[in-house]
Parts: sequence; structure tokens; C-alpha cells
Amino acid sequence: MPADAALAARGKKLFMQKSCNACHSMDSKMTGPALGPVPRERTAAWMMSMILHPADMTKSDPIARQLLQQFKVQMVPPVPVNAEEARALVEYIKSGGK
Ligand code: HEC
Repeated sequence: MPADAALAARGKKLFMQKSCNACHSMDSKMTGPALGPVPRERTAAWMMSMILHPADMTKSDPIARQLLQQFKVQMVPPVPVNAEEARALVEYIKSGGK
């Protein structure tokens, strides 16, 4: 399904406003994983959960737990994100950072 362009544009702004870009870029590993390849590997629902509840995910979800072991830092959004904002962020990630 094509990414919703308007929502993705909102997500792009939020990615900076919420400081996601402090730990992530689309194409290279930083403190956290590169996000460009993620939509090929995981569902939108999974990404939503990771953005909204990262600490629960690294406890209970096997993929997230493995990422925590690999990156050795618990993802903590420095600025709170609500569900609507998380949707936009997922759309931005799905758009491949455009
Ligand atoms: C303090 C650094 C940090 C910040 C800020 C941060 N993340 Fe993360 N993120 C991580 C780390 C580290 C992981 C890997 C899981 C873990 O160790 O908690 C991760 C995992 C993810 C994943 C899953 C990646 C994969 O390979 O499946 C997504 C999606 C994600 N973050 C999106 C976001 C978004 C969107 C924001 C902004 C709201 C954000 N992150 C803010 C560090 C961060």
C-alpha cells in the first residue's frame, strides 16, 4: 500500500520534534537501528507498539528484546508521543524518509 504523503510529511516533522533523530537515521545505525529497512521486516502495528511502548516491547516482544540485546540501550522517547503522532511517524518510516 502506498504511504499517505500528507501523513508522512507530518511524520517527518515529528521525527525531529520528538528527537527520534537523536538516535535514528533512515540509512545508518546510530544509537538505535537504521529505520529504512524496518517496514520490509515488520508490520505497521508492530512499529506503532515500538514507538508508543518501547519499554514494554523490549520486555515482552521477542524481536524487540533481541534489538535491545544488540543495541544495549533501551529506547526511551525523550518527548511523549501519542497514538496519532505514532501513526504519522510510522507513515514517515514507511515512506523511506522522503
Ligand atoms: C535514546 C535513543 C532513542 C530514541 C530517542 C528513539 N529511539 Fe527508537 N530505538 C532505539 C533503540 C536502541 C532501539 C532498539 C530497541 C531497544 O534497544 O530499545 C530502537 C528501536 C526502534 C524501532 C524498531 C527498529 C527495528 O529495527 O525494528 C523503531 C521503529 C523506532 N525505534 C522508532 C523510533 C521513533 C519513531 C522515535 C521517536 C519518537 C524513536 N525511535 C526514538 C533508540 C531510540
